[in-house]
Amino acid sequence: MKHFNALMASAAIAVTGMAGAAQANDFRLGLITPPPHVWTLAAEDFGAALNEASGGEHTVTVFPAQQLGNEADMLQQLQSGALDMAFMTVAEVSNRATDFGAFYQPFLADDMAHAAAILRSDEARAMLDQLPGTLGVVGIGFGSAGMRQILTNGDVTDAAGLSGQKIRITPFEANLDFYNALGAAPTPMPLPAVFDALANGQVDGIDMDAELIVLQSYHEHADTMLRTNHMMFPMVGVVSARVWAGLSEEDRALITEHMSAALDGVLDTYVERDDVWQEEIRAFDVTYIDAGRDFFGDAVAEWEAIWEERAPEALETLRGVADATRQ
Ligand code: BEZ
Repeated sequence: MKHFNALMASAAIAVTGMAGAAQANDFRLGLITPPPHVWTLAAEDFGAALNEASGGEHTVTVFPAQQLGNEADMLQQLQSGALDMAFMTVAEVSNRATDFGAFYQPFLADDMAHAAAILRSDEARAMLDQLPGTLGVVGIGFGSAGMRQILTNGDVTDAAGLSGQKIRITPFEANLDFYNALGAAPTPMPLPAVFDALANGQVDGIDMDAELIVLQSYHEHADTMLRTNHMMFPMVGVVSARVWAGLSEEDRALITEHMSAALDGVLDTYVERDDVWQEEIRAFDVTYIDAGRDFFGDAVAEWEAIWEERAPEALETLRGVADATRQ
């Protein structure tokens, strides 16, 4: 822990310190999503834009599908400077920077357009200032992966039907709290392991977004789609603080401009496409149920009580932003 703190402190100092001299770079950007996923395509677009804007000086090699390890592994590599950049789930960030768990308040956002407005707010962006000190990375901006849904098997017409069901979740505390409150048996599992786990019956159902249900054909191994929109699922574009410290002001500005544009494009894509993917799922051979906040009974209030203790200020801030941006 001592070593970790020293590393974070030096990373934070490095971020605020003098910029380095301009030099050509081949940046490495890691993510866990598969090649055709919106995040991966956006990372490639960012690389192409940076290459062009730098007159060919900088290139970005994108490593999708967990090629560099899971997000915890990538975070370590970012901290040491072995990895330059990543598009990372805020879920992983929230395991180390608790305030970020507040984004997962169930039904904080009404839909993807509302989620995008929250993520574009000054208050949400200000939370990125914590990252050099807590994680050793510079947060450039937020993206997202749509709203969370539940795809499962069995006769699940209300929350009681989920009781005891093994539901795959992304591994992070805020999600674990929600499924525990529901009385389900949450099964944390990284994205690349999901297909096999659902196909071979290791889990009964999955917590997932509409894009990936369509892209990975998860519905072929489930019979019930609960369209819940119960949580937003933010992503953050980050640069290693150690790498950032060695970049010139000009290169920092170029990276910020083009990565921000790519992340903004990710938000736009989900705002446009989230409902379109839902319509595709509705046409699949599954029972499709529209379920809102009431479906979850007391679980939402239970989650809120836990997180009002754990991250009270961040929760209050994001609730204020959600109210101010609600259409
Ligand atoms: C997931 O863990 O479900 C997930 C991770 C990254 C992008 C989208 C979904």
